Amino acid sequence: MCGIVAYVGNKEATPILIKGLKRLEYRGYDSAGIALLNGNLNVYKKKGKVSELEEYLKDQKVDSNIGIGHTRWATHGVPNDVNAHPHFSGKRELAIIHNGIIENYASLKLDLEQRGHVFLSETDSEVFIHFIEDIRDNNQCSLEEAVRLALTKVVGAYAIVIISKDDPNQLIAARKGSPLVIGLGQGEFFIASDASPIIEYTNEVVYLNDLEIAVIKDGRLSIKTIEDVQTTPYIQRLDLELDQIEKGGYEHFMLKEIFEQPKSIKDCLRGRVISEQAHLALGGIRQYLNKLVNADRIIILGCGTSWHAGLVAEYIFEEFARIPVEVEYASEFRYRNPIIKEGDVVIAISQSGETADTLAAIELAKAKGAIIFGVCNVVGSSIARASHEGAYLHAGPEIGVASTKAFTAQVTVLTMMAIIVGHRRGTIKESLFHQLLVDLENLPVKVEKALKTNEQIKYISSIFKDARNFLYLGRGANFPVALEGALKLKEISYIHAEGYPAAEMKHGPIALIDEEMPVMVIATKDQTYEKIVSNIQEVRARKGKVIAIVTEGDKQIEAMADFVIEVPGTHEFLMPIISVVPLQLLSYHIAVMRGCNVDQPRNLAKSVTVE
Ligand code: F6R
Repeated sequence: MCGIVAYVGNKEATPILIKGLKRLEYRGYDSAGIALLNGNLNVYKKKGKVSELEEYLKDQKVDSNIGIGHTRWATHGVPNDVNAHPHFSGKRELAIIHNGIIENYASLKLDLEQRGHVFLSETDSEVFIHFIEDIRDNNQCSLEEAVRLALTKVVGAYAIVIISKDDPNQLIAARKGSPLVIGLGQGEFFIASDASPIIEYTNEVVYLNDLEIAVIKDGRLSIKTIEDVQTTPYIQRLDLELDQIEKGGYEHFMLKEIFEQPKSIKDCLRGRVISEQAHLALGGIRQYLNKLVNADRIIILGCGTSWHAGLVAEYIFEEFARIPVEVEYASEFRYRNPIIKEGDVVIAISQSGETADTLAAIELAKAKGAIIFGVCNVVGSSIARASHEGAYLHAGPEIGVASTKAFTAQVTVLTMMAIIVGHRRGTIKESLFHQLLVDLENLPVKVEKALKTNEQIKYISSIFKDARNFLYLGRGANFPVALEGALKLKEISYIHAEGYPAAEMKHGPIALIDEEMPVMVIATKDQTYEKIVSNIQEVRARKGKVIAIVTEGDKQIEAMADFVIEVPGTHEFLMPIISVVPLQLLSYHIAVMRGCNVDQPRNLAKSVTVE
């Protein structure tokens, strides 16, 4: 949510900032801007995409070796040129880029206004930089000290970078709750919300911790805590290749990521499952594994698609490990007074590892004594670091805003966890354990086969692209897949869609069904197969259009549905990893046919670092 990039060194800053902003655009794309120091402090900003800013800069004199850039997802104030970042201080000596929310900005603003500050925008970020300037001037202190003092007084989350007209070789950055990574080059430094703008220049990085302030001045990096205690930067090597963050010939990141799933699932399984040796282990979960094995209850936390992965895991854990599971929206959990007892463990799921609600829910659960297992994609992310232990997805960067390969990798990791726990508890027999390992290993090939439905789905999409509503039905572990399919469709094509457990249809949603209503039924072979066949009959009897996802060779449903999409079968609790694939493709093609911006759907952002 909002992308930040900054540069100081001996190269031209503008091309680095613009390229970096394009890489970060998935985090927010309603406006963009840069600030440069070249004798003066010049700020250029534009409503719209980074490409519009780039176009605007063509007529400007933008040479400089130091600058900051921002791509915005609006929180305070509508997207327009004025509300875009960077923001100036009152004397126009300082500029800031900010990702996050300052919760006490209204009271700070009132106080500053009473003392003569005039604000141009409606943003909390402009208040932030005025506040810093005010402290600097009133205390006659250095900018670094003013930033530190300001940070002790603001409430909320932030990742910031500040430049000053008086110090053309200095960048000051700080974070609390929003990520920042510093790239160390040869006589140059980069700062960004994630490593994607940095990767082609250097692979040596320092991840800033919460409540740390980094000062890059005259070619040196120093990091202090907000309490003014010096820390030693921990330099890490980036494990990221440039082609992982590029489209690689696909029209959209989302399509690339859907088609990457055989590989991302393979990467997720690599070294963890070896059926021939009856080996299944998650390296990241060792010290607290016994807690999980002996848990009285598992609480799973997540938002959006990650919450759906949690719902699938509920079925799997209860089946294989016989431990009661509760799946909670992190945003609801954090504002309740949840009951956490000794013997409860928490699994927090997050692709980005930065979702503010999930992070806050973890902190709450930790404060109540829970052990937290993180299931994240982004290595070193805030949620990964806030967890006691965890397992990474190893799915590679997910850039399309709609989550696809992260979902299948999340379910894969959670399935491995459940099988490990079930095996240790003796709730799955040796023969089933072995069969499940083989089934896990076969997933990439089966997903590859499911992707072969692409052309057929394109055709089905052309028929239903103008539908105003869609209903998605599934049962058992395929019920969360119905929710996920509906979410994918609504978020990128803006068609209203609802997911329901198929049997619940007759308790209300059946009233919606008529000849205009496409009903997507996930009806692969499992213990409720005959029941879902009856549900399909109920839809047909009301003239609904049935598109069914079935197990290869299913003749029974073929005879009654309008369209069937065949996918390979597997153990019914692993089926969501395969059955979700056609739903991802359907939402993609419908969105493209409707002319929607698939990778950057309106109002959304990839990593939701505000609550
Ligand atoms: C939907 C989607 C979102 C995210 C949600 C949680 O396609 O991407 O619903 O799943 O914002 O994000 P993470 O997993 O990063 O915590």
